[in-house]
Amino acid sequence: MDTGLLAVNPGSVAKAAALLRRGQVVAIPTETVYGLAANALDEKAVERIFTAKGRPQDNPLIVHIDSMEMLPMAARKIPKEALLLAKAFWPGPLTMVLPRTARLAPSVSAGLDTVGIRMPAHPAARAVIAAAGLPLAAPSANLSGSPSPTTAQHVLADMKGRIPLILDGGNSPVGVESTVITLVGTPTVLRPGFVTANEIAEVLGGPVAVAAAVTAPLAAGQAPASPGMKYKHYAPKAEITILQGNLAQFSHYVAAKATGGVWALCFEGEETEIPVPCVTYGKKNNPATQATALFSALRTLDEKGAKTVFARAPGTSGVGFAVYNRLLRAAAFRVLEL
Ligand code: TXA
Ligand code: MG
Repeated sequence: MDTGLLAVNPGSVAKAAALLRRGQVVAIPTETVYGLAANALDEKAVERIFTAKGRPQDNPLIVHIDSMEMLPMAARKIPKEALLLAKAFWPGPLTMVLPRTARLAPSVSAGLDTVGIRMPAHPAARAVIAAAGLPLAAPSANLSGSPSPTTAQHVLADMKGRIPLILDGGNSPVGVESTVITLVGTPTVLRPGFVTANEIAEVLGGPVAVAAAVTAPLAAGQAPASPGMKYKHYAPKAEITILQGNLAQFSHYVAAKATGGVWALCFEGEETEIPVPCVTYGKKNNPATQATALFSALRTLDEKGAKTVFARAPGTSGVGFAVYNRLLRAAAFRVLEL
């Protein structure tokens, strides 16, 4: 299959919408990462997403809507908490897990009776959903196991020959995937993102839990609250270790390890202080810039042929917590205190 790559404009949006209505899969930009979209009401179309990604059958997808009128197509019971959060954070990088309707294609929720729903803020994503007139199931548009794509070129590298069309909307402004919160039972953050647990708690006027699997590996045999938690994610080919400590300690530790294939993942401007080649991911005290750069940096390390990577540890406040969560998973939870 030929894979078209088109800039976002009214013509390419109409083409994407026509493909989606015919049950095809199209990659679209969103404010978080690029998504691999298909009609959420069409089982065959949704199955094509799983095939294109090589995604495990038991990992559910997020349904993207462009208006509150579309919400009842996906969610069966809509608690007042969901309406409060929608008012505060939609359109935007927040996914809510709610009881699902029977109308959705079964594979969307991979056997669960709940579904993750999000109203994206990116104008191109909104335009495609509106033009198709359908809720769109869309996971991140990477091959299963690779870092999420934050440019159309990342999508092309993973999806060439697998899907008919990629819409190019430039760099994803947020850079990490949406916050996922379940509203079935105690509100619990299953995946941190740009919208933080504290911001959600403020809107709900009560405590919000954060699933333990966000910062610690699942114990053997432990059932995950979100199926995505059990998969090795964002995993570059290199073995990554996060080093907790200051820049001087980092440089000293890495100097003793410097051989071919050893790289550092550091903050902008630190390259001259580190005795191995570096790839940067944003500015030291600016987690938003780290979020925007992280997945691209992980792909660059692979392209450079890095075998062993030592990473500077991000802070954990604000979106920094999401950056730390993604880096932890890329590092398979290897963290060293210096
Ligand atoms: O920012 C995003 O959310 C991007 C863009 C494209 O919208 N999408 C995305 O989708 O990251 P995906 O499929 O890569 O990640 C969805 C995550 C997975 O970890 C999945 O296990 C979890 O959400 N999830 C989806 N539905 C769920 C459900 N019903 N219950 C619990 N977790 C769910
Ligand atoms: Mg993903």
